[in-house]
Amino acid sequence: MQDHLIIFDTTLRDGEQSPGASMTKEEKIRIAWQLERMGVDVIEAGFPAASNGDFEAVKAVADIVKGSTVCGLARAIESDIHRTGEALRGAESARIHTFIATSPIHMKKKLRMSPEQVITQAVKAIKWASQYTDNIEFSPEDAGRSEIDFLCKILEAVVEAGAKTLNIPDTVGYTMPEQFGKLIATLRERIPNSDKAVFSVHCHNDLGLAVANSLSAVMNGARQVECTINGLGERAGNASLEEIVMAVRTRQDFFPCDTRIDATHIVPASKLVSGITGFPVQPNKAVVGANAFAHESGIHQDGVLKHRETYEIMRAEDVGWGANKLLLGKHSGRNAFRSRLLELGIEFESEEMLNNTFMRFKELADKKHEIFDEDLHALVSDEALVLQERYRLLSLTIHCETGEIPYARLIISDDGKELQAESDGSGPVDATFRAIEKLLSSGAELQLFSVNNITSGTDSQGEVTVRLQNRERIVNGHGADTDIVVASAKAYLSALNKLNSKLERAHPQV
Ligand code: KIV
Ligand code: ZN
Repeated sequence: MQDHLIIFDTTLRDGEQSPGASMTKEEKIRIAWQLERMGVDVIEAGFPAASNGDFEAVKAVADIVKGSTVCGLARAIESDIHRTGEALRGAESARIHTFIATSPIHMKKKLRMSPEQVITQAVKAIKWASQYTDNIEFSPEDAGRSEIDFLCKILEAVVEAGAKTLNIPDTVGYTMPEQFGKLIATLRERIPNSDKAVFSVHCHNDLGLAVANSLSAVMNGARQVECTINGLGERAGNASLEEIVMAVRTRQDFFPCDTRIDATHIVPASKLVSGITGFPVQPNKAVVGANAFAHESGIHQDGVLKHRETYEIMRAEDVGWGANKLLLGKHSGRNAFRSRLLELGIEFESEEMLNNTFMRFKELADKKHEIFDEDLHALVSDEALVLQERYRLLSLTIHCETGEIPYARLIISDDGKELQAESDGSGPVDATFRAIEKLLSSGAELQLFSVNNITSGTDSQGEVTVRLQNRERIVNGHGADTDIVVASAKAYLSALNKLNSKLERAHPQV
């Protein structure tokens, strides 16, 4: 019998800590549905003490998800833990994940606490959490740079207090695979009550080693891996879920454990997260990159055609390539439309929202014959923005001609008031952004502009991400349309809407 390797997904928490990747409650629910469908064991839905919005988002995920444990992150602070316990009240299976830093540099410079005070605080945190659940996870933050004797001491104390999962984070992505594997083996060996807890790992990718470190830990007895879809996360990200799952699945001759993930949901999950956060997936990314199963050289193609295993160790269809179902075309009715959305985990708050999205679906179906799940997700994201946001694009006229200066004229709505501007620019997108700035003078700096096709074909919708920075705030805006200049205008306005909202949220690790 193989051991079970627990997959703990933190896309909605650590993933959301990537600058600009913050998600709305509705977006989190859609991703949580997909994770549940995929068979993720534990979904870390957020950090409820960050803000009221974060609390509500974790609560909504906890209330809705039934097939996975829902987890909330809390610093080892009483108020954080009560907030998290409250957010998780509706969950069928809840976990509180509490943490405190244990490396000398973090204890001294960040916490300004002595090692003894840190142990006392950690034990108290477990006690507070146990008022809500006995499913408690503890992380010694920056374990990768902590002293082994101290780690053993604090971990023994928290297990004694009731922690059931010991998560060892390589917070700054500093360790090497052999070293990290040994760390797990040593902790399991030296902590007297280590058999009372599951060992977990949480690796960051600063040196590109998050997956290698996690797998090395698994070979040394870790039975939970914390990971994210597309490797999203702080700085260089976390270990990527798809790589962990497929490495363990593909090399069952090597690993003494397996996950319960239904891998056919991996590619749709990757596309969903990329679409919602606006973080594109690099084409050569393992498992979910557009080129992951493409063969360029003639020799490879010949080999694959004769016998697939010559160059392929996994099958594209096993990880969900080609799984995006074709939705009926422009003749589809409202009921078919609603039921496909329900299958995708999308429910509207009002009939008005459903009707508006259905109308826009019809418009899209007129331009584009085949509508895929990714198109639906883009439509829904757009509709949610249209209803909530202050600035909206009403119309855009572009003039481009070889040898002429491109020019844009647009009308936007600012809380219902129509504003008009025009500008030229070095290209149609530049002219459009200049026209918007003429109207709104945000002063924000453009950090990133990227265009991706949502599905394949020249009739595909283009999905544009715009990242704007205003002082320390960084936000991503998204827009989708079959016309990429229109998508760009929507994305720019969506980023300005986010900059406008005065959302104050705490970061768990600062
Ligand atoms: O990287 C880290 O240490 C974390 C902890 C909060 C687990 O994200
Ligand atoms: Zn982390």
